[in-house]
Amino acid sequence: MKYLTLHTDSKMPALGLGTWQAAKGEVGQAVSKALSIGYRHIDCAHVYGNETEIGEALTSTRVPRQELWVTSKLWNNSQRPQDVRAALVNSLKRLCLDYLDLYLIHWPVQISHMVMSPQSATDLIPWTTEHALETWGALEECVKEGLVRHIGTSNFSTKKIQILLDNGTIRPAVSQVEMHPYLQQNRMRKFCADNGIIVTGFAPLGSKHRPAHQIKEGEPSLLDHPDIIAIAEKYETTLATILLGWAMTRNTSVIPKSTNPMRLQQNLAAADIVLDEKDMTVIKGLDAGYRFLDGSHWMMEGSSYTSKNLWDGE
Ligand code: A2P
Repeated sequence: MKYLTLHTDSKMPALGLGTWQAAKGEVGQAVSKALSIGYRHIDCAHVYGNETEIGEALTSTRVPRQELWVTSKLWNNSQRPQDVRAALVNSLKRLCLDYLDLYLIHWPVQISHMVMSPQSATDLIPWTTEHALETWGALEECVKEGLVRHIGTSNFSTKKIQILLDNGTIRPAVSQVEMHPYLQQNRMRKFCADNGIIVTGFAPLGSKHRPAHQIKEGEPSLLDHPDIIAIAEKYETTLATILLGWAMTRNTSVIPKSTNPMRLQQNLAAADIVLDEKDMTVIKGLDAGYRFLDGSHWMMEGSSYTSKNLWDGE
């Protein structure tokens, strides 16, 4: 397994298991299988609704806690400073853990405390720098208390991360963003390299089985691109292995979701693949700035969230 070194000198396994859309009744088995074949990094979130079952799998594994890397994410309805600690403690309880390795602000989007999934713009609270810093301050307290070892962001632009760097006392350790050959995140990679932040890519395979309302008509597919097929043939491996190997060859972390034992194994094999320069150049040419998950579900009528202020043009 390849490891990436964080600004604290801790090491994070580059390949993790994503658990978004991993159904109840399947996710526990998938986590147990993943741990038994060598995964050491599990990416979770309260909003995925499956942390309790993941916790059961973590309890029954023989892998020592210090060899595991567990991430979870603060949901958008708990970003008020008075709600942050309780949200983290609840994730810890569900996951049966004493501490998390990493806790991320899930989105730069705030929703009312009693609402899980906004139905209208009245459930949304506009994003402000002031409130982001209050959330970050509460997360810093959780680090000091030992509830979590690292904190970071998910779906934040470099502009928003810069605000945390400029005003916080604890630096973000990880920036988790959608990343794959159609969205190569070169600006984020450079920014994070310059600031000692690790980039983790979600939806590395194109997140094909996400909810139907989030799938756009005619969207491109990663798993049948002719250039990726040709590279997979050259390495005598699967397209998924190439996509994940590409991410790790760029020294980024990657969290493919699977609940299928065969695909869990295929994805793990990617941690041993290093693509050569020629193949990296071919894949570099596929960048299209294309988001499969464009955050448009936050932009219902009357919402203060727009593509422009969510992604800051990045
Ligand atoms: P499954 O859980 O049945 O394996 P992403 O990580 O980009 O969000 O993509 C996850 C989707 O890709 C899931 O639907 C998952 O289905 C599927 N998937 C995971 N690993 C592979 C693989 N090696 N080959 C093809 N599809 C995969």
